[in-house]
Formats: sequence, structure tokens, C-alpha cells
Amino acid sequence: MAPPSLSSSLSHHHGRHPLSFAIALLVMAYSTAAGSNPDLDALLKFKSSLKDPSGALSSWSESRPPCHNSDRSTWTGIICFKGSIWGLQLENKGLGGLIDVDSLAHLKSLRTISFMNNSFDGHIPTINRLRLGYLKALYLSNNMFSGDIPDSTFDGMQSLKKLHLANNQFTGKIPNSIVQLPRLLDLRMEGNDFSGAIPDFVQNTLKVLNLSDNAFEGSIPARLSKMDPSSFSGNKALCDAPLAPCPASPSPPDDPWTSLTWIIIIVIVLAVILLALIIFILLNRRQPRDRSPGSLEAASPPSHLQKRASLKEELPSRQGSPTHSTTSRKPDTKLTFVRDDKERFDLQDLLKASAEILGSGCFGSSYKAALTSGTMMVVKRFRQMNNVGKEEFQEHMRRLGRLSHPNLLALVAYYYRKEEKLLVSEFVSRGSLAVHLHSNHGKGQPALDWPTRLKIIKGVTKGLLYLYSELPTVTAPHGHLKSSNVLLNHSFEPLLHDYGLVPVINQESAKELMVSYKSPEYLKNARITKKTDVWSLGMLILEVLTGKFPANFLQKGHPGNQEQDLVKWVKAVEGDAVFDKEMKVLPSCESEMMKLLRIGLECCEADVEKRMELKDAADRIAEVKEKEVDDDFYSSYSQAADVR
Ligand SMILES: *[C@@H]1O[C@H](CO)[C@@H](O)[C@H](O)[C@H]1NC(C)=O
Ligand SMILES: *[C@@H]1O[C@H](CO)[C@@H](O)[C@H](O)[C@H]1NC(C)=O
Repeated sequence: MAPPSLSSSLSHHHGRHPLSFAIALLVMAYSTAAGSNPDLDALLKFKSSLKDPSGALSSWSESRPPCHNSDRSTWTGIICFKGSIWGLQLENKGLGGLIDVDSLAHLKSLRTISFMNNSFDGHIPTINRLRLGYLKALYLSNNMFSGDIPDSTFDGMQSLKKLHLANNQFTGKIPNSIVQLPRLLDLRMEGNDFSGAIPDFVQNTLKVLNLSDNAFEGSIPARLSKMDPSSFSGNKALCDAPLAPCPASPSPPDDPWTSLTWIIIIVIVLAVILLALIIFILLNRRQPRDRSPGSLEAASPPSHLQKRASLKEELPSRQGSPTHSTTSRKPDTKLTFVRDDKERFDLQDLLKASAEILGSGCFGSSYKAALTSGTMMVVKRFRQMNNVGKEEFQEHMRRLGRLSHPNLLALVAYYYRKEEKLLVSEFVSRGSLAVHLHSNHGKGQPALDWPTRLKIIKGVTKGLLYLYSELPTVTAPHGHLKSSNVLLNHSFEPLLHDYGLVPVINQESAKELMVSYKSPEYLKNARITKKTDVWSLGMLILEVLTGKFPANFLQKGHPGNQEQDLVKWVKAVEGDAVFDKEMKVLPSCESEMMKLLRIGLECCEADVEKRMELKDAADRIAEVKEKEVDDDFYSSYSQAADVR
């Protein structure tokens, strides 16, 4: 398609024809030495085997070299670094045809290639050590590549860190050359037709893995058991952590008889459970309805007795109704649900459930209760909400119930009585950030590492941004942000809890207990503002990085006490001694940790006027990376400088 370099084809005639020599000189001068640029030749040759129906690459021409004296290329999709071609980013261009890897092999400084979202089909091109040995990232997702990937395709790619093959039609096993990539960090293969067992990846660098929506089967190797379950969803027959355990039977799962046997066993077990339930319900019905609540406890094992008794004791009593008849009990136990997408239950179900005290927070205790369905709920009791009217309270709960964000713990239902309120939320498996930061070391739990801590701060920030956009009229949309109100799910994604309560908490208790009321602006001017949550976020960042609990939260509101102990301490400590000793400080991460620490300190700026807005804090936090160096064009150019 593109002509071979004009100047070079002319130049080998120059000895014989003076005229063509002159023309050659002219052409060479005109094209500013482009013809002698091997990168240009290689790219044009590469282009000639592509199909480019929409002319997306029309800017690729000999008139100007691809990387001329700057890092900005005039050629579409070429990323330059110090005058050399560093990246090829040809995405969403409707390209097809042949990928001429041999031509690309001439681009000695090429480190990252993306052909995502095009129409390439057929077999994957052979990209091995000899041709693109220095490549760090290869993105081929969202094309129509098909067929098995030959075992040697990625042989000896010592530098390859990111490989995206998602949403193609690849088949067969994961090739051994991928399993062996020594520096692999990020592998996406979702949405293909890969099959076979998941191999035991040798490298311990692997951070991101997605194998979902393929036809894999068998046991997930133990090394991968900490990955997110969604990395493995939508496969034929995968089992073991993080998914359900494999059946104990040693027979291969692809034997149809075995699957059938399992289905039959499961059906029988379910039937037995159902039968038992029916019998249980029938038996219960025959008993007098107004038996005393104590009888249930007496029938249960002693170990449960105490825990459950405490829940009953704490949960709304029925003192108001002298007779325990059904009619007077019903309205008493009505929970109001604030969302439609959750299982319904009532207070009785929670009372029957064996409950466990999770902890006593400032406002009252929280309990974990398992419903008959197995779903876990957290019930939190508030006594300090009795100054708001019923209407106002309900309206606010409905507002909170409409909130939905991956970083918010969803409010599911509430129970209203004048003297006390119960808020029912979902249960989150790993408990609070505070527990992980301050009290898990004895239990043999590994301390949170830096990438996890960074992820938690980023998630918290996203949750806050969402609250700010959804509750614009509330002065401090969260109002009570602290590490014990940040819960962690199985993949350490943070979920904010106890948010949006400023409007319904009694002022008196709020002053005593809520984090917002510990802020410098409250202590100084007795006011909280939109920026108060920014301060709380700053304190949380410092707490997460230093592992130190902000002591001033413990003091119950002493107006005038403006000591921000943690902030002072952080400012006084030199170098990396400031960081939590439980968190490994790797040289490659330290400057990013420092960056986050500085943001934390700035958020804690005591002068509200000088303190940054949440939006600015969020933008800056988003820029903090796990490590200084990143290897692809999805990171900024300043970082690109470190790649070489
Ligand atoms: C590819 O296309 C999908 C939808 O068509 C889009 O969501 C995605 O961002 C695109 N990817 C890239 C890298 O442009
Ligand atoms: C894997 O990919 C699927 C499909 O795109 C997505 O739903 C899932 O969240 C991904 N999981 C991870 C851990 O990236």
C-alpha cells in the first residue's frame, strides 16, 4: 500500500544518471532525511499489510518522520519518547489484516503495543523474544482473534508485564510460555473460549488476573486463591478457593455421570432440608402462640444463650404490650425497608437469628445476625436520634436507602421507635479497617500491604465523592469517617458505614461522638462545613500510612483542644520512619507513599479556607500509583521517563 521509500529507491541509481541524482538530492532535502529513518520505513512496511478501510492511518506518510524532535507524534497512534518510537496505540480504528511483527521488530525502542478494539482475526501473530523481546505491554483485547495460541508464542519475553487478550475467540489451553513469563503482572483472558485446567503460574508478580467467561475447569491452584472470585466466574467447572471447594470425589469433573450424581445428591439434600423445614413449621404452629420469649432460648444450646439473650435485651423490648398476643406484637416488629433489591425479613427473624456482638461503637452496639436464608445482616442500634420527628427521620432514611455505590455499605432497613432506632445493613466479611490496622497482628493475620492500603484510600475517596454528589445539601455528607467505619469486603474493597447521619443525630451526642465535631473548625468556630470530611479523610490517610490511631478521636469533645496529635507527630518524624512498620516500604514505592502522606497532611490543614476541596483531594489521590514506574501509555509521560 505505501510505496517503498522513494529516496532510497532513487539513490541507488545516482552513480549512473546525474539527473536522477539531482532529483534524489531534492527529494532527500524535501523529506528532511525521512528516507534514511529506519523507524519510518519499518512503520510504513508494517502499515502496508494492514487493512485500514477508514483511512485511520492516513497521517502515516513519508513527509515527516514519526517522532521528530519531540514526544508528540504527528502520526496517529504513535507514542514517542526522546525521539524514538516507544508505543503503538492503535485502538478503535477498525483495523484488520496482517500484523507484520517482523517489521515491528525493527523498532528497537518499542515497549508497548495496543491493538484493542479492532477487527483483527485469525491466529495470534508470533511475538517472541527474537522479535519483540523488550516489549512490556501487549493489548489485543476486543478483536476477533481465534484458534489455539501456540505454546511458544511468548517464549523468552523477559520484560512482558501486561498481556490483554480478552474478548476474542481464542481456544485451547493457556500456553506454557505465558505461564512462564517471569515478570507478568496483569493478565486478562476473559471472554474467550480457553479451556483445560488453570496452570500454576510460577511468577509471584501476578497482580491482576481475569479468566472469567471461558471454558476452564478443575481446581484453581492454591496460589490464586486470594484473587477476586470474579476473575474465575462464568467458566465450565472451576472450583476451590476463591470459588466453592471442589467435590471430594477423586473422579474427574468432566465425567457426565459424576456431575449427574452430584446433581442428584444436591436435589436429595435440598429435599430433606425442605421436609425438615416444613415439619419444623408445622410443629411450631401447634404450640401456643403466646409462649414466653424465654422458651426459645431454653431450647437452644447454652453457648448461644448468652449471645442471643444480649441481642434480645438490647433490641426493642415489648414492655409497651402487656399481652404477647400476635396482634399487639406485629406492629412492634415492623422493619421499614428502604430498598427493593434485598431479601425481606422482619425483626422477629433478627431476634430468632443467633446474633453476635460485633462491637460497641460510640452510638451503641452493633450485632451480626444470620437470617434463616444464611444471609448475614448488621444491626446497629441508635439511642441518640430521638430529637428528629418521625417524618423527618423516615424521609432521611429513604434518601440514604436510595444511595448505591460499590464503596458504600448499603442501608437495607430501619426500625423506628421514639426512643431508639435500629439501622440494618449488609454484613461485610473482613470487618473494619481499624481492626486490620490496629489489632490483627496477634491473630496471625498478615498486615495490610501498601497496594491494599492505597486501594482502600482510593475506594474511600470514591465513596465520599459519591456522597457529595448525592447529598449536596448535607453539611458534612459523611460526617463520621474513621477507620472503624470503613469496612472491608473479601477483596479488601472498602465500604463506608455510618454515613449521612449528621442531620438525624442529636446535636448533644454528635458533639461528643462524631468525628466531624473533632475537626479544627468545630473546635475553633463551632461549625462544620463541606470541607470537614476532607479533614477526616486526611486523618484517615495518616492513620492508614502510619498505623497510628488518631488519639484525639478518643477524647470526648474538649472544645478548645486543638491538638492534632497525629498531624504533629507526622510532621516531626523524619524520612520513612513515619510509615507503619507492618507495611513493607520498598524503594520503588516510597516516593508514592510520601506523595499520599503529603496529600493526607494537606487535607488536615487546620484552616478551612486553605484546605483543599474534596474534588481536588480525589484527583490527587487518583494520581498516586503503587510504584513510581509504569509501563504503558495509560500512565503519564513523566513516568514514561523512568521506563527506559
Ligand atoms: C473498546 O470498546 C468498548 C465498547 O465498544 C469500550 O467500552 C472500551 O473502552 C474500548 N476500549 C478501548 C481501549 O478503547
Ligand atoms: C473479570 O472480567 C469480568 C467480565 O468483564 C468482570 O465482570 C469481572 O469484574 C472481572 N474481574 C476482575 C477481578 O477483574
